[in-house]
Amino acid sequence: MRLHAVSGSAARQRTECAIVGIYESGTLSVAAEQIDAALDGRLKRLVKRGDLRGKPGETSLLDVDRGPIARILVVGLGRKDALKRTQYKKAVLAAAAAVARSGAKDAVSYLSQEPVGETDVYYRARLAAEAVGHALYRVPAIRSTRKPPEPALKSFGVAVAERDQKKDAERGLEHGRCIAAGAALTRDLANLPANVCTPRHLAERARELTREYKSVSTKILDEAELRRLKMGSFLSVTAGTDEPARLIVMRYEGAAAGKAPVALVGKGVTFDSGGISLKQPPGMDEMKFDMTGAASVFGCIKAAAEMRLPINLVGLVPACENMPSGRATKPGDIVRSMSGQTIEVINTDAEGRLILCDTLTYARRFKPSLVIDVATLTGACVIALGAHISAVMSNDDDLAAEIEEAGRRAEDRAWHMPMAEEYHDQLKSNFADFANACGREGGAITAACFLAKFTDGLRWAHLDIAGTAYLTGAHKGSTGRPVPLLMDFLIHRR
Ligand code: BES
Ligand code: MN
Ligand code: ZN
Repeated sequence: MRLHAVSGSAARQRTECAIVGIYESGTLSVAAEQIDAALDGRLKRLVKRGDLRGKPGETSLLDVDRGPIARILVVGLGRKDALKRTQYKKAVLAAAAAVARSGAKDAVSYLSQEPVGETDVYYRARLAAEAVGHALYRVPAIRSTRKPPEPALKSFGVAVAERDQKKDAERGLEHGRCIAAGAALTRDLANLPANVCTPRHLAERARELTREYKSVSTKILDEAELRRLKMGSFLSVTAGTDEPARLIVMRYEGAAAGKAPVALVGKGVTFDSGGISLKQPPGMDEMKFDMTGAASVFGCIKAAAEMRLPINLVGLVPACENMPSGRATKPGDIVRSMSGQTIEVINTDAEGRLILCDTLTYARRFKPSLVIDVATLTGACVIALGAHISAVMSNDDDLAAEIEEAGRRAEDRAWHMPMAEEYHDQLKSNFADFANACGREGGAITAACFLAKFTDGLRWAHLDIAGTAYLTGAHKGSTGRPVPLLMDFLIHRR
């Protein structure tokens, strides 16, 4: 896909598809007005007749029989005062999806010329590029029949009002392209079934990134090495499965070797059956997505390498299956973590924290400036925040605020949830230093409190993406989140 910035009047720009907006009030966008004038008021007639209504995300494809424009795609933008990042990204997404269904080989979007909340040209271009990448993504489906045809769309232009804005727009487009490429990798990995996407498969995909980018190096630790490192907590989760576990270490070097890296830790449970604390069958297939945190770390490494971000990044992925068997960890078993702290495994289905805690301890050897772990960690998070907003917990309020801010800017939002001593009390154990699980109250918070016991002296944040990582129902599949949030956060690092 060629992404480029264009300036000048919409009425004169040659394209197979001009994408313009209309508000709920019937008001045309600036570019729609220009095109309408060149077409003797055709758009306004359609508005008058009630054919174009401006409902948010609604698209109408109109054929034009003369001039430089072959088609017009009119996109509903809703209320003009409500056009913020959320509505804008949705509109571009709907537009790109509609263009991809048409035969148009190129399109130019003028939606970026509208005032969108607090955005600048850079963000309007970047969000557009991300949305186009998102809309054109196709699941790597494993079907016996022929694949559906590729969309004809090969070139996407984003319009700016003034010539001197083109540079900012181009920077936004380039960042958006890289973020979309990273998110596509995340979605590819997360969408794969668990019989394909095993810990060894993830390790192979990490090696692939090393081959693709000179700036990325990989180290794969097998179970013998995990035993040497005394990762008793991580190993207790993989005890029940025949599939060998891996700790995947990816390093992206975009800055001087001495510069402290940001460490990203991603939960890589390639299938979470619950273990001996077995889950109920309905929805269990979705537990193939329990490695989306890991997949988002892969996505960030790829996006950073693709955009040559001037930072150092370490991606740490503990990858294993959580399965029941005669060798599986049993409720009540006590394990010793790499930190030396002992854990009573009350519930084998609270496995994510058990693999993350040892990886957080391992992260210390990279002397990171900060650590962010990303995990589909708790069902309680889905109850608390639903499918729209991720949870962020941290031992540093400023870091949590920065992550929230990045989420707002990238339109991939997160909400800061509290951690307090009272919640820690819930994890008390009569037999070990603490338990891995407790009552259901505040489940997303107690999970974060468990991880906090391993992050003393680290600047650390935890993202619970259980609700946002994938869609369920008819549109089941990975969303690619929180790659946009994390990349926005990293772009703003200095
Ligand atoms: N992977 C699940 C969390 C999850 C649930 C993600 C639903 C996405 C959708 C996690 O390993 C888990 O099972 N958590 C338990 C923790 C409990 C036993 C303390 C949960 O949330 O029920
Ligand atoms: Mn579980
Ligand atoms: Zn899990």
